[in-house]
Amino acid sequence: MIPTVVCRDPSGLADGGVGESGSRVPPMVGSPHQPVLEEAVLDGLGPVEGDAMVDLTVGAGGHAARILERVGPTGKLLGVDRDSVALEVARGALKPFGDQVVLVEGRSDSLCAILQKNGWSRVQGVLMDLGVSSMQLDEPLRGFSFLRDGPLDMRMTPGAGRSAMDFLVDSTVEDLERTLREYGDEPSARRIAQRLKSLCRRRPPRTTGELAAFIESLQPARPRGRSRAHPATRTFQALRIAVNDEIGVLERTLPQVAEALAPNGRCVVISFHSIEDRVVKRFFRDGVKDGTFFDAARKPVRPDADEVRDNPRARSARLRWAVRAGEVAA
Ligand SMILES: C[S@@+](CC[C@H](N)C(=O)[O-])C[C@H]1O[C@@H](n2cnc3c(N)ncnc32)[C@H](O)[C@@H]1O
Repeated sequence: MIPTVVCRDPSGLADGGVGESGSRVPPMVGSPHQPVLEEAVLDGLGPVEGDAMVDLTVGAGGHAARILERVGPTGKLLGVDRDSVALEVARGALKPFGDQVVLVEGRSDSLCAILQKNGWSRVQGVLMDLGVSSMQLDEPLRGFSFLRDGPLDMRMTPGAGRSAMDFLVDSTVEDLERTLREYGDEPSARRIAQRLKSLCRRRPPRTTGELAAFIESLQPARPRGRSRAHPATRTFQALRIAVNDEIGVLERTLPQVAEALAPNGRCVVISFHSIEDRVVKRFFRDGVKDGTFFDAARKPVRPDADEVRDNPRARSARLRWAVRAGEVAA
């Protein structure tokens, strides 16, 4: 028999629709998010008629809609997002599926509590499509992009916790250096951290444009005609991961995913940088060893050239799947 999901709520965010913030944010603008690796997601999850599925990063609801088509009118999907604005977009996109869909504002590391609160027990599939959506990236007021000048914010949950500017101001040089090295693979982490902290003591950068221009001023001039990434790319990635505690949240989520899956239930995780992918790979590999999973992807699934051409943001996507074994002995 499958026991009901045991509730441990490390984030305290699971009260069925109450999120990390209560703040008001401007509505998202621009084109909807284009889901990545759609067919591989469906292959990995294998949804069939009547299944109960969870999308922990529902975003604009693109993947969720495809899953709902597969589970049919007797199936259901619980969609979670830590961004209330994204959740409203999903609500509109998934309206045709009526009461087959339950949407909850919350963070993925509240999975067990969210399931329990909504009266769900074990599920046949869980999807995580990590990182930020195009809607978040393309909205300057969210402060994720150095290509669109806006407040230096980067919070996935608007108004909750520290903004990227606060993070810069509060961090020591050592913290900042570690963040840039661990989360950005930044080879000049020490120098950038020192310079940034000395800038913060005079006047902290308030906008994404100011931060990007400052980082660029620290780098040697880019060779003409060579398409190298912008010098601020690594710093922005590192700050975003730190501001949203993305790795910590992922590490706390994965055991709950294993706990929430019914035997033979399937989990798919799409990550966009190597740090996340490493966490997922290890969790699945260890899970196969200890009998939590009976199978897992040995290699990540990557988008093909056509998908990258149509959707350049898919280029760094790596998808891994795992299949839950029966109950693990205590
Ligand atoms: C890449 S988008 C997902 C797009 C979605 N698959 C679609 O088809 O539209 C990631 C979304 O997940 C949310 N998100 C990221 N990490 C999260 C987490 N740990 N818990 C809950 N939501 C998260 C972000 O706010 C964003 O809306």
